[in-house]
Amino acid sequence: MSDRLYIFDTTLRDGEQSPGCSMNIDEKLRVAHALATLGVDIIEAGFPIASPGDFEAVHRIASEVHGPKIAGLARAAQGDIARAAEAVKPAGDNARIHTFIATSPIHMEAKLRMSPDQVVERAVAAVKQARSLVPEVEFSAEDAGRSEIDFLCRIVEQVIKAGARVINIPDTVGYMTPDEFGYRIRTLIENVPNSDQAIFSVHCHNDLGLAVANSLAAIENGARQVECTINGLGERAGNAALEEIVMIMKTRSDRYNIDLGIDTTKIVPTSKLVSQITGMPIQPNKAIVGANAFAHESGIHQDGMLKHKKTYEIMTPESVGWRANRMVLGKHSGRAALKARYIELGEVLDDERLVAVFDRFKVLADKKKDIFDEDLMSILSDDSNVEAERVKLISLHAASGTNDAPVAAVELEIEGVRHKATAEGDGPVDAAFKAIKSMVEPNGKLLLYAVNAITVGTDAQGEVTVRLQDGERIVNGQGADTDIIVASAKALIAALNKLPNMHAREVHAQYSGV
Ligand code: KIV
Ligand code: ZN
Repeated sequence: MSDRLYIFDTTLRDGEQSPGCSMNIDEKLRVAHALATLGVDIIEAGFPIASPGDFEAVHRIASEVHGPKIAGLARAAQGDIARAAEAVKPAGDNARIHTFIATSPIHMEAKLRMSPDQVVERAVAAVKQARSLVPEVEFSAEDAGRSEIDFLCRIVEQVIKAGARVINIPDTVGYMTPDEFGYRIRTLIENVPNSDQAIFSVHCHNDLGLAVANSLAAIENGARQVECTINGLGERAGNAALEEIVMIMKTRSDRYNIDLGIDTTKIVPTSKLVSQITGMPIQPNKAIVGANAFAHESGIHQDGMLKHKKTYEIMTPESVGWRANRMVLGKHSGRAALKARYIELGEVLDDERLVAVFDRFKVLADKKKDIFDEDLMSILSDDSNVEAERVKLISLHAASGTNDAPVAAVELEIEGVRHKATAEGDGPVDAAFKAIKSMVEPNGKLLLYAVNAITVGTDAQGEVTVRLQDGERIVNGQGADTDIIVASAKALIAALNKLPNMHAREVHAQYSGV
């Protein structure tokens, strides 16, 4: 058994399944590049059969992102596997197909309507087909946590015989406790006769808040691949958080003594990038990447920290990539300095992109004296959304005061045509939202509105997150600006742009086509 733990990141697949977290292809590529810089071993880039967009994202990541293995997910079905193989092909020797079928009684009977024998037969056929198309095949027994252990041993032995070299044991519904799950992994490794031919992997969901604890129990019992996501994103309550697993291995190396390929100083920048792109905020008390994770508030703690940092700090903020807000650039900085700073942040801009980003930088530098790294990242996020925008904010004017009814006048460009509307509201943000919503449909039900200051100071950019629901679909949008009314409008527009059927409303309050 190797002493290397392989980090399999599924932010772009399971993470993207979090409500409202869907990403466009360019956003997925940015995340994939950041994951490669972070040093993950495998990127699960998507589920190619799910849609042409998913296929293209996996294909482009397999073509353009070098270093990690690139996995495509496929059900144990011929069409899925053929499509996944085509999508991951450009990764060459680094291509992996991850095929799965459910193995618990409830899933086999109620969902698949297949007998256990049929499930084994299907799994073996899928692994053989995948193995004929790509160099490496991973097999997952969906809902393994609730599967009969004897049946699990049987199917695992058969798929290894068929060519699977990674066996993933998911706790799909987050039902296991650590002792049970660890025992399950040990039982499989000890009882499956050919278990030495595969790496055992786990994929834990967080429904009972045990995803990381269960993953650790599995590692202690022989698992050497962990599937996880940045910020713990994923279906329902999410997956095991990559940053937590990695920092447990590093901080408690006395206990685990396992090597990892991760550059931990890239954890916080990657976490912020994923949060910005998905519009999913990070709770302040989230371990490792939350804004308060290294903040010491009580007098006793502060006193201890001043005397010796190790009194209350088990790892340094710098080791995970936290840096004091650093003034990096200002209004007189040139394009070369901007480009160099982005390279330090792990973002390589080509000349065309640099021109667009530099224009945005200058606009911000006119409004705000000190430009911090966080500001640079928000400029980049704003810029990468531009091409996908069907609705653009042209102008916004809002007025409010102690004795005036708040009012906002907004001009939008919707699919190339200019529209204007004004509205009153309970506050200037409410007025701006009413004006914007009067111009488009569908315009979604507001589920969340949250404001956060990106950096310190009263001239800080406000970062706004908006979550909208339209029928079954939930979308998130983020916007940043030194004016929080404008940031709010940008966030609402970013969310609206993610609603597939959104278009200009035929008649709205005040229309002026240009
Ligand atoms: O949770 C799960 O079982 C999955 C599988 C597809 C690995 O996401
Ligand atoms: Zn999952």
